[in-house]
Amino acid sequence: MNILILGSGGREHALAWAIRQNPKCDRLFVAPGNPGMASLARLADLDILSGPAVIGFCEENAIDLVVIGPEAPLAAGVADDLRAAGILAFGPSKAAAMLEASKSFTKEVCDACAAPTAAWARFDAAEPARAYIREKGAPIVIKADGLAAGKGVTVAMLEAEAIAAIDDAFGGAFGAAGAEVVIEEFMAGEEASFFILCDGKDCLPIGTAQDHKRVGDGDTGPNTGGMGAYSPAPVLTQEIQDAVMAEIVRPTVAEMARHGTPFQGVLYAGLMIENGRARLVEYNVRFGDPECQVLMMRLGAQALDLILACAEGRLAEMQVNWADDHALTVVLAAKGYPGSYEKGTEIRGLDTLPEDSAHMVFHAGTSEQDGKLIATGGRVLAATGRGANLAEAHAEAYALADAIDWPGGFYRRDIGWRAL
Ligand code: AMP
Ligand code: GLY
Repeated sequence: MNILILGSGGREHALAWAIRQNPKCDRLFVAPGNPGMASLARLADLDILSGPAVIGFCEENAIDLVVIGPEAPLAAGVADDLRAAGILAFGPSKAAAMLEASKSFTKEVCDACAAPTAAWARFDAAEPARAYIREKGAPIVIKADGLAAGKGVTVAMLEAEAIAAIDDAFGGAFGAAGAEVVIEEFMAGEEASFFILCDGKDCLPIGTAQDHKRVGDGDTGPNTGGMGAYSPAPVLTQEIQDAVMAEIVRPTVAEMARHGTPFQGVLYAGLMIENGRARLVEYNVRFGDPECQVLMMRLGAQALDLILACAEGRLAEMQVNWADDHALTVVLAAKGYPGSYEKGTEIRGLDTLPEDSAHMVFHAGTSEQDGKLIATGGRVLAATGRGANLAEAHAEAYALADAIDWPGGFYRRDIGWRAL
């Protein structure tokens, strides 16, 4: 079959790498893709937010399946457009993507199905929000309701920070995304991510991971898109995973179906675990980046069979063939990230590195110029290793990262510290 992946990050490189290994995959395209994927797939210059543009490409190239990587095309309804045109798509409808696009929508779904999550309230004006904060006190969490590129959440340890976040949101700091604000109870504990394929009726867990959101060693400094991840996440024991499926994921999927907006795609549940009990922090409706890199490294070729069964509504007949393995990825970012950083610095030494089932450097923000590989984004590469245990995966990933010659970049030295 012919497959098109939408997106251009490390997540999509990892998807392309896993899908390419499956003999069912004939021709593989990625739009817009990046130079790291050029040996696996044909890169297509395409407006991935436009349903008609994606459909036109699919018709010209006899595409049988479209795998949608990032949230923006999902929130724009590209999956709906593809299905309406009779093209198989992996990813939720615009209505089901509300589980990521609106915090208050998710909280309402949780309430309707009694899924454990933080207590919450919604506000569309500053004064009642301030009064609520004064009543509840700190610590407390303030969230812009809509998509705010990962910047809409303030975990306020002091009441004054919470009030300042309210002033920011209603002052327009997040544009339309901040016109409504959700205020939540602060949850203490350890965070982990759980990935579940859903075909509208059935659900299949495909792995756990933990990422490192802060830019600096020891989880210090500002938040980023993720500086590294590992899988599995030991804090998500089988017992906790079973409880999350029974109390959170299955009820959510049933509630979405009851609404007439069944969820099809990958549900990424952000969880807070305390005293052996998990509560939902948030849902995303796509793979995490860099969590996808470690999941794909562990799933390999079967990722395509699982994704295809999900898109075709056949998850009930599938199971995951787990290897007893671990994967870890280290993100190499441009110096200065997540603040301002230089673009166009040269990266050398990648062509000498191994690329096999235990070693991959996935590209996220690279391009090619005059035969040279240059950095064009904040997060640029994800050096990923696999091993029989986490220490081995850690050693493989860091051996790759250390061998990359990129004076313009940096990476955290302590990915995986919590589990090691
Ligand atoms: P979100 O975009 O909802 O995932 O929030 C971003 C981050 O803020 C999460 O990954 C958590 O680290 C933190 N966070 C969000 N909600 C809460 C909460 N209710 N209690 C504690 N931390 C939270
Ligand atoms: N690594 C976090 C995310 O993809 O949202």
